[in-house]
Amino acid sequence: MTARASAIKYAIRDLVVLAKEEERKGKKILYLNIGDPIKWDFVPPKSIQEGLKKYAQSGEYADSQGVLELREEVAKWETEKKSPTTPDNIIIGNGVSEGISFLFGGLINEGDEVLLPNPSYPPYIAYSNFHGAKPVLFQCEEENDWQPDIEDLKEKISPKTNLLVLINPNNPTGAVYEKGTLKAIRDLAYDHKLLVLSDETYDKIVFDRSMTAFAEVAEVMPFISMNSFSKVFLVPGYRIGYTCFHHEGELDDIKEAMLKQARIRLCSNTPAQKACAYALTQSKDFIKDTISRLRERRDFCYKRLNSIEGISVRKPEGAFYMFPKIENKDDKEWVVNLLRRKGVLVVYGSGFGTPEHFRIVFLPSIGILEEALDKIEEYMIEK
Ligand SMILES: Cc1ncc(COP(=O)(O)O)c(C=O)c1O
Repeated sequence: MTARASAIKYAIRDLVVLAKEEERKGKKILYLNIGDPIKWDFVPPKSIQEGLKKYAQSGEYADSQGVLELREEVAKWETEKKSPTTPDNIIIGNGVSEGISFLFGGLINEGDEVLLPNPSYPPYIAYSNFHGAKPVLFQCEEENDWQPDIEDLKEKISPKTNLLVLINPNNPTGAVYEKGTLKAIRDLAYDHKLLVLSDETYDKIVFDRSMTAFAEVAEVMPFISMNSFSKVFLVPGYRIGYTCFHHEGELDDIKEAMLKQARIRLCSNTPAQKACAYALTQSKDFIKDTISRLRERRDFCYKRLNSIEGISVRKPEGAFYMFPKIENKDDKEWVVNLLRRKGVLVVYGSGFGTPEHFRIVFLPSIGILEEALDKIEEYMIEK
């Protein structure tokens, strides 16, 4: 194995091996580690299911950039969401995950620095390391509902910085970035000529206010955004996500670098792309139902977690994760013991760059969340 492959760490799934071992011993495990709504009581909307049936015979390879009808529909949808783009400026990938891999493969060189929010979605850290770059984490402030700390971000910019990643709404904290914060980040990026990637995978899963797309503040600055069908359209297993280039030709080189990688992997799943295109022409009202169910689960978890001695959590405004604090604890050991003793699997905060925390998903029904939180409470009392 190469050194770069052997160094890969992925906290969200790494402990599943241990959980399976416990399961084999007969223990019931509550998997609150993975952001997959379909594992619980959410189902993909009818429109996308119908689309998949309709295009089941589309067994052909597709255009490497993505089928044209999907790029056209995505361009309309993104424009409607105030993030205008054109079919030519979109690359469809096997999830945003593949977009991240292509972007890092095409942009990041050994010795570069990649600015990432702390805490951060782990693949950004993993891909930085994989390409010999240094992930540089700028702090998000817990006491300020996990908004990025602009002063810290400013200090962390160096001549080696080659990319600034924003995750809005955020995984794992659920923070939705304020417009003023985004403007301040835009100014910094503009002054330092930094390329911004805005990962907006959870843009429509917001509870208290709408989110501001980076496009709304970018003005003349070229940047890249990414979005996915996995979470908002409830089809993480279809593996469809996309990258949008917002520019007047300035990003042609990086776009071509990503397209070259798209061509060697041939294409992403054709029927799934066509199903997603079809779903975009249909009603999106199902999103309201997702939000209202998640809001109830969020409120329940927020109250319950804060009532447990030794745990505190900020209220997430988007996505379906919470990132509670467990002060003075080795978070990895805490998570492993919670799994072994109580059969609840969550993710340790240091996997996201922030120790003394853990990430829990609030996707399950209230009954299951209650069972999990009772166990966490018992565990805290017994410790
Ligand atoms: C912030 C963020 N970006 C990207 C992804 C990857 O999504 P996809 O399923 O489109 O690969 C995830 C998945 O959890 C995520 O949380």
